[in-house]
Amino acid sequence: MKFNIITIFPEIFDSYFNESIIKRAQDKKKIKINIHNLRDYTKDKHRSVDDKPYGGGPGMVMMVEPIYKAIKKIKKGKAKVILFSPKGKTFDQKMANRYSKLDNLIMVCGRYEGVDERVKKFVDEEVSIGDYVLTGGEIPAMIVVDAVTRLIPGVIAIESLKEESFSLEKELKHAKYEYPQYTRPENFNNLKVPKVLLSGNHKKIKQWRLDKRI
Ligand code: ADE
Repeated sequence: MKFNIITIFPEIFDSYFNESIIKRAQDKKKIKINIHNLRDYTKDKHRSVDDKPYGGGPGMVMMVEPIYKAIKKIKKGKAKVILFSPKGKTFDQKMANRYSKLDNLIMVCGRYEGVDERVKKFVDEEVSIGDYVLTGGEIPAMIVVDAVTRLIPGVIAIESLKEESFSLEKELKHAKYEYPQYTRPENFNNLKVPKVLLSGNHKKIKQWRLDKRI
């Protein structure tokens, strides 16, 4: 699956996408992440991506033309284009599942006080990651890449298990939240690991985990 991110801060993504599961998913060619600098789609010498709002008012508005050009250049074949905005549909696990089946997800990161309304003509969906206002769409883009990548088969261990032969894993995979987990030590300041987890009885452990998951 390809993720194409359109942003004016391409460097923001370097560290997060080059660590851990997201890095491994790229190394294993399960995903490809392309970061596009919106300023490469401008035409003036200042490489402007924003301008004053018509009708007056504070702040700047991201211009439609560079975003339009970037989408047009990147969108080859079938692709879904989303725009991050606090006004969008709230991103959830269902959307992550839906996106994980796409070939190409193009994400436009808004910035400043807003984006020219006409940009919406060129996107399929407006997406918010929660009911609060951020300074831009870069963190939302990282969240979407993260949540979607871990659902791509072969990216994390549980996904690569044969669902049919592991009914517990199957049920747990569909569980919204996981069961409580513990690691060493067995007793920390008199806070003890549940006995069943130390019992070695795998059937009982599986049942306990099913009962405990939220
Ligand atoms: N841009 C600013 N706030 C946002 C939010 N909550 N979700 C997505 N994009 C945003």
